[in-house]
Amino acid sequence: MGDDLTGKTALVTGAAKRTGRQIALSLANEGMDVVIHYRSSGREARELKGVLERVGVNAWTVQEDFESETNYSEFIGEIKGEVGTLDCLINNASIFPPGNLEEVEFDDLLTNLKVNSWAPLSLTRSFVDNFLEGKVVNLLDARVAGYDWDHAGYYFSKVLLTRMTKMTALKYAPDFTVNGVAPGLITPPPGMGKEYLEDRVDRVPLGRYGEKSDVADAVTFLLKSTFITGEVLFVDGGRKLLYELGG
Ligand SMILES: NC(=O)c1ccc[n+]([C@@H]2O[C@H](COP(=O)([O-])OP(=O)(O)OC[C@H]3O[C@@H](n4cnc5c(N)ncnc54)[C@H](OP(=O)(O)O)[C@@H]3O)[C@@H](O)[C@H]2O)c1
Repeated sequence: MGDDLTGKTALVTGAAKRTGRQIALSLANEGMDVVIHYRSSGREARELKGVLERVGVNAWTVQEDFESETNYSEFIGEIKGEVGTLDCLINNASIFPPGNLEEVEFDDLLTNLKVNSWAPLSLTRSFVDNFLEGKVVNLLDARVAGYDWDHAGYYFSKVLLTRMTKMTALKYAPDFTVNGVAPGLITPPPGMGKEYLEDRVDRVPLGRYGEKSDVADAVTFLLKSTFITGEVLFVDGGRKLLYELGG
């Protein structure tokens, strides 16, 4: 049965579009109030706020670029001042720049680490510092079960976040749970079309790509769960199984 999410509040990073938007919508449909974080998609964030309010929950928007020198303590403190209690943190915001292993530059690696690993860790620490209990879900990537030679900086940042997920789960138990959702083939990278997905379905045992709602369902499941922490839920149509075979 799990926890009832009605009336609880979640911060979803990178929530204005794509997967983050679907997560925000799914949580609102569970009766949760949602803080919609965005970087550059202000118009979409405000549009989503209106959609969530029509669902019947409270929604707020908050802007921050995690590539800048963000003070995460102040960032969470300001949200606390505005909304009161935060119950859940969904670390969804991410970058996915190309860069193969032989050519990736140190600065590219740092940028990936800053947005994809440091921001989730810092947000988790500030979340724990400000509230008495709660749940964190980090958006990882099914690639962490294998390799991505063409997005090396991104890959390293998600592998690091996977380990951070487990360490923070251990550190912040018993009052906080920290879990990960590792999506496989769900949406094409921003700016690319469905052919990107169709070209890759032969690498998915279930023979198709997933939906954003599959990822949102996994996030919701982990927020409702009362006895799971430090776990990574792969939402990848079985892709991980092939990575484990070296494929
Ligand atoms: N899509 C997939 O198939 C897939 C597969 C594996 C893993 N994942 C993971 O699932 C999550 C969602 O995927 P997605 O494809 O929906 O993500 P996305 O569209 O690539 O990015 C989500 C949001 O992150 C925000 N963001 C980017 N750089 C930022 C920065 N410097 N500071 C703050 N926010 C920043 C952007 O917000 P603005 O638009 O406001 O700038 C963007 O809309 C990500 O963590 C991704 O790594 C996705």
